[in-house]
Amino acid sequence: MVEIVPSILSANFARLADEIARVERGGATMLHLDVMDGHFVPNLTIGPPVVESIRKCTKLHLDVHLMIENPERYVTEFVKAGANSVSVHYEACRHLDGVLQMIREAGAMAGVVLNPATPVEVLEDVLGVVDYVLLMSVNPGFGGQTLIPYVLDKVRRLLLMRRAKNLAFPIEIDGGVHGENLAEVVRAGCDWIVTGSGIFHSPDPESTVREFREIAVQATAVRV
Ligand code: DX5
Ligand code: ZN
Repeated sequence: MVEIVPSILSANFARLADEIARVERGGATMLHLDVMDGHFVPNLTIGPPVVESIRKCTKLHLDVHLMIENPERYVTEFVKAGANSVSVHYEACRHLDGVLQMIREAGAMAGVVLNPATPVEVLEDVLGVVDYVLLMSVNPGFGGQTLIPYVLDKVRRLLLMRRAKNLAFPIEIDGGVHGENLAEVVRAGCDWIVTGSGIFHSPDPESTVREFREIAVQATAVRV
């Protein structure tokens, strides 16, 4: 089942509970939370207290994407705050295997993220111990950017690696996905599709989630 995962980065933070309720009514089962530290990426967003507050107002799966240096210092705190899955950047981890273990031991799904320019082949050995892989389809830091087309080739190569190893981890994609390219992204083989501005900058986020889920179902039927 392909999941449409709204990213709250483009939501109205002054009325976050209402924004979350809207996408929940549209059928979303997961919510993507972007954490930025002003070092790994040139932007700042939220920390564990906000995740904790969001946890209190929704039962949705909270998918926390850490765009921070030294993520090992914070992963446990984010799981305690209510994250169901936590992903860390390959580029930010000196000891990736250890950080993934920390996330799992804390009780959440452990994901690894690759920037657009990092080839999927670097994950060859770690794939057996990840719960999901997130491929960035924009350079991380901001919503509303354009999807970088070569990332879809990375999705296809990762699918081949997954098949060769007989694994079943979800492949997540993040950045620049909207109504016009969603079907192509689904057909490339993505399982969890993050979209921020595509949903929260639309006139009616609730019906946009519903519409995106329908596009995903149709496109899954014609996957090649
Ligand atoms: C960007 C973030 C994304 C962002 C995507 O660094 O990781 O999750 O919210 O936003 P859109 O869908 O607008 O590209
Ligand atoms: Zn993200």
